[in-house]
Amino acid sequence: MSASVITVETQEDLSHKLIIQQPSVGLSLQGSIRVPGDKSISHRALMLGALAQGETEIQGLLLGEDPRSTASCFQALGAEISELNTELVRVKGIGLGNLQEPVDVLNAGNSGTTLRLMLGILASHSGRFFTVTGDRSLRSRPMSRVVKPLQQMGAEIWGRKGNSLAPLAIQGQALKPTHYHSPIASAQVKSCILLAGLSTEGQTTITEPAISRDHSERMLRAFGADLSTDPESKSVTINGPAQLYGQKVIVPGDISSAAFWLVAGAIVPGSELVIENVGVNPTRTGILEALDLMGADIQLENQREVAGEPVADLRVRSSRLKSCTIAGEIIPRLIDEIPILAVAAVFAEGTTIIRDAEELRVKESDRIAVMAQQLNKMGAKVTELPDGMEIIGGTPLAGTDVDSHTDHRIAMSLAIAALVARGITTIHRAEAAAISYPNFTATLQQAIG
Ligand code: S3P
Repeated sequence: MSASVITVETQEDLSHKLIIQQPSVGLSLQGSIRVPGDKSISHRALMLGALAQGETEIQGLLLGEDPRSTASCFQALGAEISELNTELVRVKGIGLGNLQEPVDVLNAGNSGTTLRLMLGILASHSGRFFTVTGDRSLRSRPMSRVVKPLQQMGAEIWGRKGNSLAPLAIQGQALKPTHYHSPIASAQVKSCILLAGLSTEGQTTITEPAISRDHSERMLRAFGADLSTDPESKSVTINGPAQLYGQKVIVPGDISSAAFWLVAGAIVPGSELVIENVGVNPTRTGILEALDLMGADIQLENQREVAGEPVADLRVRSSRLKSCTIAGEIIPRLIDEIPILAVAAVFAEGTTIIRDAEELRVKESDRIAVMAQQLNKMGAKVTELPDGMEIIGGTPLAGTDVDSHTDHRIAMSLAIAALVARGITTIHRAEAAAISYPNFTATLQQAIG
């Protein structure tokens, strides 16, 4: 296949147009791919490293814009973080409770994880005042989900719309422990409360309606926190105050980034890809279960455990997909993969239903509305549901102009759809991919060959 299938054009406003032309002779994807480090684990390694005593070494950190936002916030709070690279990042922690009051606003950029997790840490740093903000998307996303439970612990937080929107101001306090029953299954909410509980005297418990990703629990334990989990009641308890000690963290590849190649390999005829070194923590593998239900040919090879997280190489071969229904407890385990799953559903035989995913409406964009609009522009048959989508598969796509709405996962999902769309697809504002996957276009080029 010729390399000219993909072109990137930088616009005057510095946004990128990613232009993908389907070739006249069959395209297939081949070879081995390494995806960048897991975003959730990268954030947590930087944060816990900053809060620990001693030095933390991080291998495989994601160099996307989101972890960069976390690193710059924690540098402003007094942690020493070496230059960010994938080989080795050293974080000199300053010890729990020792964050400095920064002289300026902390900016979390596009990153909900940075802002929500950091709020739990800041709210429990007694006697210091902090202000936090983010980009236009983040300033419109709901913060009450973390502000309310923190207030239940005695936190003082102010912001627009009843303290629910950033910018937010925080007067750090000695907090009191609580048992919070979260109405949503959210690892960001759970982690925020656990991080607040770290420096709070007594037992802080959070119960969620379904189990969300457990990277915080694994890493907090590894750093020395006294933490217990009860899978039956879906509760996690932290016994504070804790003492954290610097650790070596090895970040596996991000299954949320691997998902683009899993779907690409499944829907582009004649493809075979191996995605190496992917984190397969069971709280994140909903995408593998969903693609299995759809008849995808995916094998887990070389399964192993690396620094407390399960890892495998994933081999995908193209196959005919069939529709499925995705709802209930699986949703938090594949929440970030629903945009690319919608692309798979467009190429599956039958009608795919996705429900119980109303959380998608408050992600970096309204991912239900944006995916439905953009895929329908290409000729797909996607109907929005209040909490999901109904996708009638089997209609061929035709290339046209589509827009990422500055959402990284939308940009990459549309690029994969473009591989199987007739003619030319132009993805506007495709630079958003760099939030979680800086080398996405280069890897796409490599897989095409
Ligand atoms: C994340 C949790 C999820 C996910 C986000 C990363 C995390 O958000 O969508 O991309 O690292 O804790 P919610 O907790 O809001 O579901």
